[in-house]
Amino acid sequence: MRMVDLIAKKRDGQSLTNEEIQFIMNGYTNGDIPDYQMSAWAMAVFFRGMTEEETAALTLAMVHSGETIDLSKIEGIKVDKHSTGGVGDTTTLVLGPLVASVGVPVAKMSGRGLGHTGGTIDKLESVPGFHVEINNDQFIELVNQNKIAVIGQTGNLTPADKKLYALRDVTATVNSIPLIASSIMSKKIAAGADAIVLDVKTGAGAFMKDLEDARALAEAMVEIGKRVGRKTMAIISDMSQPLGYAIGNALEVKEAIDTLKGEGPEDLQELCLVLGSHMVYLAEKAASLEEARAMLEKAMQDGSALNTFKKFLAAQGGDVSVIDDPSKLPQAKYQIELIAQEDGYVTEIVADAVGTAAMLLGAGRATKESSIDLAVGLVLRKKIGDAVHKGESLVTIYSNSEQVDEVKNMLYENIKITPEPVQAPTLIYDKIL
Ligand code: URA
Repeated sequence: MRMVDLIAKKRDGQSLTNEEIQFIMNGYTNGDIPDYQMSAWAMAVFFRGMTEEETAALTLAMVHSGETIDLSKIEGIKVDKHSTGGVGDTTTLVLGPLVASVGVPVAKMSGRGLGHTGGTIDKLESVPGFHVEINNDQFIELVNQNKIAVIGQTGNLTPADKKLYALRDVTATVNSIPLIASSIMSKKIAAGADAIVLDVKTGAGAFMKDLEDARALAEAMVEIGKRVGRKTMAIISDMSQPLGYAIGNALEVKEAIDTLKGEGPEDLQELCLVLGSHMVYLAEKAASLEEARAMLEKAMQDGSALNTFKKFLAAQGGDVSVIDDPSKLPQAKYQIELIAQEDGYVTEIVADAVGTAAMLLGAGRATKESSIDLAVGLVLRKKIGDAVHKGESLVTIYSNSEQVDEVKNMLYENIKITPEPVQAPTLIYDKIL
């Protein structure tokens, strides 16, 4: 087999066989196929697409390019959740303890973040003492004991994806549905999930800006899951404005605590209940989605969700007194209000721009090498559809510097107020089974 022939075959719109896809991914991972040929192939895929069969074969070839995690010593069906990312997305912090509290094992491998805020591990590290330096055996033992543990990315998972994703990033081939779908699903499958719940975001703050693209990505990922024998479903949810109110690491932990008590922002709580119900159902802990939702609502109300969060934090060295006294979380020196300059209704909160404003404060990393400030960030005081009076606060800026003019200007430009009332955006657009 020659790579040049396979590039030509894809360029001409033909489908590649399983063996041909394996040849490409093996050759690229071990260095036999150079970047310039792989770039040409990725561009051919970008324009010609892939069949469902090819996309599933590509996913499996990436899974088998490296190590896979064996979670078989954990009792029960392991359901993982993946979000395609957004601004102020606190769902993972809430969902883990929430579904674990009703008996669903959550064996979460997480990373540090690049972008608006840190990743799940960065956020959890705002709890003093919390760490993810546990070995695989301790990880499994903790999941069996508390139903939830989080470990940092270990081993050599999906090296083919790592290499290809970096290449796509510099060859304008990221935005291809089969390439994105196989990239995301390969990591979930290699990390040992039996079932997968996907939260595909759409809107200004999302990877997929419009609904049709989000739907196509969700369908592609669900199809891969089915073809490789993992129960998979997707929710398509709104990311035109940030989710919840908080954007920033410690601020999101505080919001997660409120949500686990059933006192969180309405949109965050609803999305967690919808995603969580599907996780509980796929884990076969409830006979219907309605029963699953009722279990989760009860866990929020009777304190068991919060209690599971406490046990999980304590087991990994965290100071659980932050739960009753969130002032023990890292605190920013200054709280500065962004004051509304007119009366009206909030019609737009451009999620990605608000995320960038949080990053300017130091809440996120611009490059892998940057450090982050766990205390800083933004708390929205208004969401789309809310009435605003001149002089009221639109956002509280949590900063370690008094100089926040650039952040303020960015927020004023991206939070639009008009005289006519508008409807709040739909939170959940669709469900793909
Ligand atoms: N996230 C991924 O993991 N892979 C992609 O290709 C795009 C987003």
